[in-house]
Amino acid sequence: MKTAIFSAHKFEKEYYAKQAAEKHDLLWIEAPLSEDTVMLAHGCKAVCIFANDDGSEKVIKKLGEAGIEFLVLRSAGFNHVDLKATKAAGIKVARVPEYSPYAVAEHSVALMLALNRKLIKANNRIRDGNFSLDGLTGFDMHGKTVGIIGLGKIGKIVASIVHGFGCNIVVYDPSPDRELEQKFGVIYTDIDSVCKASDIITLHAPLTSETKYLVNKDRIELMKKGVMLINTGRGGLVNTRDVIAGLKSCKIGYLGLDVYEEEKGLFFEDHSGEVLQDDVIARLMTFQNVLITSHQAFLTNTALANIADITISNLNDFEAGKKCVNEIDENT
Ligand code: NAI
Repeated sequence: MKTAIFSAHKFEKEYYAKQAAEKHDLLWIEAPLSEDTVMLAHGCKAVCIFANDDGSEKVIKKLGEAGIEFLVLRSAGFNHVDLKATKAAGIKVARVPEYSPYAVAEHSVALMLALNRKLIKANNRIRDGNFSLDGLTGFDMHGKTVGIIGLGKIGKIVASIVHGFGCNIVVYDPSPDRELEQKFGVIYTDIDSVCKASDIITLHAPLTSETKYLVNKDRIELMKKGVMLINTGRGGLVNTRDVIAGLKSCKIGYLGLDVYEEEKGLFFEDHSGEVLQDDVIARLMTFQNVLITSHQAFLTNTALANIADITISNLNDFEAGKKCVNEIDENT
């Protein structure tokens, strides 16, 4: 089946080579899907997109007009796709619901440790011939309280890792899994109590109208002075301007971000030869206690292999006229 793969990255192609070569005609397109690039999919039956491609109503309508019947996402999150519009256009949609929650959870903990133990600063110093320890003091994770917002597949693995460190764990999740109270000693509570009690807060909820800006000025106000905030969920979970105010007032002591609300068109791409136009991320980058990665939490060889396997299996199901197990709709 001829499938246009938008936002194609060098690092992922090799994982498709073996399984897809015989069955599918994959058209690799580096550009992200947008109103301007839809025409590149002409002649294809399916389109495959990543987390920052444009799945808005306008683009979906154009995909429908171009004869696209199947939209397959190489991501678990689907907040970027208008599922009412895909239904109206008669386009089926499937995603990769799980490829390696370990990859994302481990990256979240990597951000915690790197910020706490000031690893980036230490490494830069040593490369500069400066072996002094002043200003590098961290804290023991053992005995600290970690607040997890969203205890699903990824959040649970974060809980298991920090439980291993000897942390206390408080959680907000509207659908509690009571088994975890025994297993990792997690305490379920409301979101404001998580904000008040935690030394480290890590976000693993999906981005919905309900969770948009769940970290905002009022919630930051509730947090402990010097709190560490980690976001590998979605950029829109935090109000970035409020977080900058929290960093300036020293209420937020550490910030680790793998996602950013305006990351589209910025993350995943090399802009090193250009003038940075985004003043908000530019301000974030001036803080010594902020660590930003470019939506790379998923980026392990295990995750990439799983994404490729499931994507090809979604295409196979569709081509065979089978109901795809990973199909999503407005009610997902
Ligand atoms: P999941 O669906 O297994 O877990 C999400 C959890 O959030 C569920 O337990 C759900 O009950 C809970 N939740 C729903 N509404 C909530 C609310 N209002 N407040 C608090 N919790 C709420 O999803 P999974 O696989 O754990 O992924 C979580 C998110 O991580 C994804 O939605 C995606 O946005 C993000 N992600 C980021 C990646 C990255 O590379 N940075 C890669 C993969 C996922």
